[in-house]
Amino acid sequence: MATEAITLLQGKRILLGVCGSIAAYKAVDLASKLTQAGALVDVILTEAVERFVTALTFQAVTGRPVYDSLWQSGAGLPTHIAHVGLGEGADLLVVAPATANTLAKLAHGLADDLLSVTALAARCPLLVAPAMDGGMYAHPAVQANLQTLTGRGARLIEPDEGRFASGLVGRGRLPETPALIGHIRRALAANGALRGRRVIVTAGGTREAIDPVRYLTNRSSGKQGYALAQAALDAGAEVTLVSSAALPTPTGATLVAVNSAGEMLDAVLAHLPGSDMLLMAAAVADFRPQAAADHKIKKREGSDDAPTLVLTRTADILMAVKAQRANSGFPRVVVGFAAESHDLLAYAADKLARKGLDMLVANDISAPDAGFEVDTNRVVFLTPDGQEALALTSKTRVAEALIERVAGLLAGR
Ligand code: CTP
Repeated sequence: MATEAITLLQGKRILLGVCGSIAAYKAVDLASKLTQAGALVDVILTEAVERFVTALTFQAVTGRPVYDSLWQSGAGLPTHIAHVGLGEGADLLVVAPATANTLAKLAHGLADDLLSVTALAARCPLLVAPAMDGGMYAHPAVQANLQTLTGRGARLIEPDEGRFASGLVGRGRLPETPALIGHIRRALAANGALRGRRVIVTAGGTREAIDPVRYLTNRSSGKQGYALAQAALDAGAEVTLVSSAALPTPTGATLVAVNSAGEMLDAVLAHLPGSDMLLMAAAVADFRPQAAADHKIKKREGSDDAPTLVLTRTADILMAVKAQRANSGFPRVVVGFAAESHDLLAYAADKLARKGLDMLVANDISAPDAGFEVDTNRVVFLTPDGQEALALTSKTRVAEALIERVAGLLAGR
């Protein structure tokens, strides 16, 4: 399946330095996915790489020339200026996998192959993803080189723990492509419209316990909330994701996992002081069982009896936020969501005013292609000043459009 286009990567020139490691095969997938997502990927290989994968492989997945030598031309740029030409105008230099040898060269400014020379000529940020076997990563020499690099502003992608090709187990494995792309997005987002801003996103349907086994919940998948968290990260924000959904946490977000409306209320209130924005995308239960049984509720043999659930109201999180904000001024911007099956705009306008929101995102869940579980949404943004309807689009694009609007609201506060 083709990777969805990533807005942040459109037209970005990424230099991908690949070193001679068994993990080089993962760099092929990275180059391929980055290209599919919209980036222009120029691959630079160190000499040892071609013992594992060929330049042709990278050329095939990027559709661009691949550079592997300081001395041979033929890759589109005259040899003697390739290192300068490649570095010029690049948005990011990613070295993945980065071997101990290349890390040492980069740390000490050695320049004896195209990658190390380009790294000296380039003026873009540097992201290194070390990958090495056994205890090499923990060696003081490697750690000292990494400290030198990060001390100069390079960003580090920590290797994963796991089993190496040698059979040894330890820290040193190159993370998988989605994690690498997540780090690349963070590096590219550093100067985004929400840089330095603290954003809280809630996502998912809460689960209200009946007994230790059963709970009441709703059809919310959390997809729209996770798309918002990713869009805020892509705009450079520090994101806290308060979630009851079981989706992969976007790279760079801090996850606070919760179950019930009560837990979500506590987590949200705890993170409000000093926050810039709350995006309340969670489908919070309005009712919960009055008391959750301590033990699993059992059937009685020979009886058709069924228990009666007595429900009680949960706290309204946005109303609690409104009260706290009235005293503290935080968060600076609050956005609510409303899923309605009828009279969408009338209910939405009422919620916007009643909950003291800066914006409300309303969606009509009666349509099969919008709302719960699906990947698309049709929404209307309401503010106290007016409304704007978006055509049916992916939850990713809804999230990006929303982040653009709220970044504008926040700019004045
Ligand atoms: N919300 C909340 N706390 C609740 C219920 C909802 O903070 N206990 C938030 C939701 O996260 C959403 C907004 O309020 O951002 C609107 O949610 P919705 O369920 O549509 O509104 P309710 O106020 O619960 O009204 P109703 O269910 O009657 O439509």
